[in-house]
Amino acid sequence: MWDVSIVGQLVDSGAFVSENLELSGLTTLRVGGPARIVAECDTKQVLVDVVRLLDSSRVPNLILAGGSNLVIGDDGFDGVVVRVSNGAVGLEENLVTAEAGAEWDRVVARTVAAGLGGLECLSGIPGSTGATPVQNVGAYGVEVGSMLERVHLLDRRSGETHWVEPRALGLGYRTSVLKHSDDALVLAVELKVNPDGLSEPLRYRELAAALGAPEGRRLPSEQVRDAVLDLRRGKGMVLDPVDHDTWSAGSFFTNPVVTDAELAGVLSAIAARLGDVAVPQYSADGGTKLSAGWLIEKAGFEKGYPGEDAAARLSTKHALALTNRGAATSGDLLALARDVRDGVHAAFGVRLAPEPVTVGCTL
Ligand code: EPU
Repeated sequence: MWDVSIVGQLVDSGAFVSENLELSGLTTLRVGGPARIVAECDTKQVLVDVVRLLDSSRVPNLILAGGSNLVIGDDGFDGVVVRVSNGAVGLEENLVTAEAGAEWDRVVARTVAAGLGGLECLSGIPGSTGATPVQNVGAYGVEVGSMLERVHLLDRRSGETHWVEPRALGLGYRTSVLKHSDDALVLAVELKVNPDGLSEPLRYRELAAALGAPEGRRLPSEQVRDAVLDLRRGKGMVLDPVDHDTWSAGSFFTNPVVTDAELAGVLSAIAARLGDVAVPQYSADGGTKLSAGWLIEKAGFEKGYPGEDAAARLSTKHALALTNRGAATSGDLLALARDVRDGVHAAFGVRLAPEPVTVGCTL
């Protein structure tokens, strides 16, 4: 049992402290039981001091920022939840410095409004800036890793802070060395942007088509941001409190990458079930990337599965988003996730891996 006198020390460190707060209110999926203590840290220094304090006193802790990639169990968290709320943002020529707690889409919007390009494809993504390098957030052909200049980290083993270059982060498809590890905490990021105000070259077919431009073309960043927001809204991937299709953690599974040897088996399982169909596939590091959303639908889980009365169901706009219709528990969501994962495996022999981080629960 840890020492509850930690509360006084957290307050002395400058944190805003609440007790017995429901974590469902702090995540985009809106599930998760109570936290014993929540310590909100609204400057970098407070954040560093609080995390050092918790680490040195060995109090169980959970770092929570935007809550958009997190599934918290119904039993909640018996420890201190650290809310990352340091949100300063600065622009200097072609460099943006944003603290970890800055809302990501505000950072994107600010660069676009300032006539800078580069981040527009990452518009409308819920969550905080500090989370973006952790899972190398990506959308519409751009990953944040390609725009990163440096990341400011707190090394939680030594208590030291330092700026690191992206190549030290092991960035990959929806992953980095920071994911599934508590060794380092992101305090801020520095991003390079395009001073000419033009977007990154269009790489996503659907986006290029929506803009009526060929792939490879660069367009004013504002125009691309608007098109990305429209596409995301159409898929329920922009938060809207009145639309339960957006009460999600975005894509619940990553798009699976299969080796050449595995691909043959998967394609024959697909052909056995569906006959001669075009299978969406893209070449990727380590093999071929398949579309999780497509596999889910073709395995029999249509958009909106399992139906209107369910507390947790697939989004009616995108089969890859698991959504809370208002009263779902974490248990409801995980049961749906298992159903889908196991159904896809039984149908095609592909095991889908969850994208969000789970806390106090497992899939
Ligand atoms: N598809 C379906 N049914 C669906 C949805 C998709 O069959 O309900 C198939 C279609 O063939 C479609 C293809 O999947 O053409 C790709 O769909 P989409 O363009 O929506 O992209 P995605 O692969 O499902 C990924 C990311 C999203 C990101 C979009 C756009 C992952 C796990 N997801 O989704 O990221 O916004 O591309 O770049 O890589 C997230 O990570 O949380 C996320 C939302």
